[in-house]
Amino acid sequence: MTPLNEDSDKKKIIIEKYNSTSSFYDDRYRKIQNEKYALQFKNTDFKYKTLLDAGCGTGLLFEYISNLKFVNLNREIRYVGLDISWKMLVQFYMKTRRSNYRGNSNLILGDIENLPFREAKFNLIFSTTSLQNLQDLKKGLKELVRVGKEDTALKLSILRKQLKLEEVILYLNSCTNNLRTDIFGELEDVIIQGDLKKD
Ligand SMILES: C[S@@+](CC[C@H](N)C(=O)[O-])C[C@H]1O[C@@H](n2cnc3c(N)ncnc32)[C@H](O)[C@@H]1O
Repeated sequence: MTPLNEDSDKKKIIIEKYNSTSSFYDDRYRKIQNEKYALQFKNTDFKYKTLLDAGCGTGLLFEYISNLKFVNLNREIRYVGLDISWKMLVQFYMKTRRSNYRGNSNLILGDIENLPFREAKFNLIFSTTSLQNLQDLKKGLKELVRVGKEDTALKLSILRKQLKLEEVILYLNSCTNNLRTDIFGELEDVIIQGDLKKD
């Protein structure tokens, strides 16, 4: 086990990194993140979902969903965004104040490795380019599984660099059905999708 101080020092570094890039994050990453969402969205049923966006950042996923013609954010989705960087969340919050955002969002400052939710709360879970930041990826995955319901669609996009993909697949195979892993040419992330099966 990693000693607590070492673990929290690494988290502080991550928080500082994202706090300091929050103001220009959208301009730099919107295009590439939108490409990932399009891939994650294939065959996604958004109707009447309680959606967790784990490591939501500045809310690019929320922005993308709110621009989809076939999804009614207010009526069909209860969106919960969680992030460890308060400045990323501030950017998100400011975005939702603008009139062109049609949906409601609930934003929570928190850690994917210790999610502040009870079991089986969500039935749609996204995490896009966030999980590679975790000290203990398996702990984060376990948390996502814990807060998901039976059959929850788990839609992950994880930076490929330095990822131990076999370990992720091995673990997710034990708690999902229909697990699919896609690597698309130049894309920096691997897209992993499956439906949760709970004991
Ligand atoms: C590359 S950004 C991706 C943001 C967003 N998902 C997107 O698609 O634009 C990574 C995000 O993960 C967040 N993050 C990193 N470690 C985290 C943790 N342990 N718990 C929650 N969020 C975390 C960062 O603060 C940052 O906002």
